[in-house]
Amino acid sequence: TDAVARLDPHDEIAEIDRRIFGGFVEHLGRHIYDGIFEPGHPSADEEGFRTDVVDLVTELGVSTIRYPGGNFVSGYRWEDGIGPVSERPRRLDLAWHSTETNQVGLHEFQAWLDRVGSDLMLAVNLGTRGTQEALDLLEYANASAATMWTERRAGNGRETPFGVKMWCLGNEMDGPWQLGHRSADDYGALASRTAKAMRMLDPGIELVVCGSSGRSMPTFGSWERQVLEHTFDDVDFISCHSYYQEHGGDAQEFLASGVDMAKFIESVVAIADAVAATRKSDKRIMISFDEWNVWYLHREDGTLSGEEIHDAGWPVAPRLLEDRYHALDAVVFGDLLITLLQHADRVRSASLAQLVNVIAPIMTEPGGPAWRQTTFFPFSLTSRLARGRAVRVPVEAGTFASEKLGEVTVVNAVATIDDDGVSLFVVNRSTTDAAELRVDLSPLVASLGHDLSIVESHLLHEDDMYAANSLEDPERVGVRRAAASVISSVLTISLPAVSWSAIRLG
Ligand code: AHR
Repeated sequence: TDAVARLDPHDEIAEIDRRIFGGFVEHLGRHIYDGIFEPGHPSADEEGFRTDVVDLVTELGVSTIRYPGGNFVSGYRWEDGIGPVSERPRRLDLAWHSTETNQVGLHEFQAWLDRVGSDLMLAVNLGTRGTQEALDLLEYANASAATMWTERRAGNGRETPFGVKMWCLGNEMDGPWQLGHRSADDYGALASRTAKAMRMLDPGIELVVCGSSGRSMPTFGSWERQVLEHTFDDVDFISCHSYYQEHGGDAQEFLASGVDMAKFIESVVAIADAVAATRKSDKRIMISFDEWNVWYLHREDGTLSGEEIHDAGWPVAPRLLEDRYHALDAVVFGDLLITLLQHADRVRSASLAQLVNVIAPIMTEPGGPAWRQTTFFPFSLTSRLARGRAVRVPVEAGTFASEKLGEVTVVNAVATIDDDGVSLFVVNRSTTDAAELRVDLSPLVASLGHDLSIVESHLLHEDDMYAANSLEDPERVGVRRAAASVISSVLTISLPAVSWSAIRLG
């Protein structure tokens, strides 16, 4: 099968906000405990952080990290995580039916972020708590005047403010599973009050209001509209959350997931702009896609599912949501990253959910090694190579029929252009046919005034698309060099069926 495209630098989408390459760390399962934090591990530093994990997170290239949840935050008392560790309370975590020991809190997490070079994005609890507790946390984190909270912060070893810029007003408040789940009207009113109060304390912050926890939620659409009618003037972002998985062995349908994500983004943009239009406002609400990934909600290998955990007592750091990702998952995952870049004009923040052990690109064994899952590769390569501005690459290619999404183009691509070069990201969504993509680079070559050649090329593809990395075989799946060439300003790339590629030109 052949596919053709043209790369015209004038077909710009937007400057890429680096926050699109964010991550998410929740107090959930073995994410924090026995994940990033394992005192006694051979690689642990003096504060108990695994340096092998720090190295992998650094290599992954994560900009902003959302913390501490997720469902967890809706029952969290942030004060439990400050002060002398030996005096911190153990608490029941109702979201994940676990015991939270509070050995890691705000200060420890910030110390870990300093090691991995990422910025903190904090979520406040609007499930069991409200405006006052959100203000207390904001004052503790960001204020510099001498107050009870800032003096406590200094007493806990931190004179200078944390200076947290991005704040989430709760988590998935549309979900019946959420502690303190509310109607759109109730939540919108609370979020607006809380946002106004937080801005009175610190006008420099950016605020994210909860959108839907998925496009398939029964309240999707009306939730966004009602919440934004309350909060339009108060917030900068609305969140989107979405997880994808293969259902019933239908890999072809699964490979259309990027189209679903695109429809989700475009729908939320339309609703936000409709709310703006009725208010005769030019303000543009941006999207924080602050939970996205492949997640086998109904297939977990040797770990407890959400339901089973309820029969397991209240364990500390149980093995939860430890999905093992195969090559097919990583190809879909790469396509989700392409989709985020294709919407860089409105998606100004995104968080891969999550980072370590819990639906994660990085896995660890207690006392043992840490390794990269298949999804690690498209993330680290896209984060490293996608710089500058995102540019459309409309591809003419064949299509397949998706049951849910109609006709879907087999080959999907996006490019980015920066001062040092050009990157191209391509997915072949066909389960059966290899494709050869020819990209006409002449408009780009003309505008740059010099020829382009290949600097790097990477291919993620396995003949067995269900091949995965594991503790026993941690390097089974990786990337290799893609078959690509540039001749007379035409880039030609061979795309095996079910593959993801990244090409760097300079
Ligand atoms: O990422 C796992 C969970 O998925 C989060 O806690 C929640 O926000 C979402 O439902």
